[in-house]
Amino acid sequence: MDLGKVKITLIPNGPARIECEEAEIVMLDGSSKSKSGSFSLCRCGQSKKKPFCDGTHNTCGWEG
Ligand code: FES
Repeated sequence: MDLGKVKITLIPNGPARIECEEAEIVMLDGSSKSKSGSFSLCRCGQSKKKPFCDGTHNTCGWEG
């Protein structure tokens, strides 16, 4: 398995921005989703599209 290079940038008071050629995200129910390019993972815990960021961090007052 070639994992390649992945860049993860933590955005202040926001998500973790992932930049990669290709990623497989294994969900809690065992299903998986493929992503490529860049996408954001929620860190605030308030997204309605977890594990992905939906922008809710901008209005929920989370700091981190
Ligand atoms: S970090 Fe964006 S919705 Fe949680």
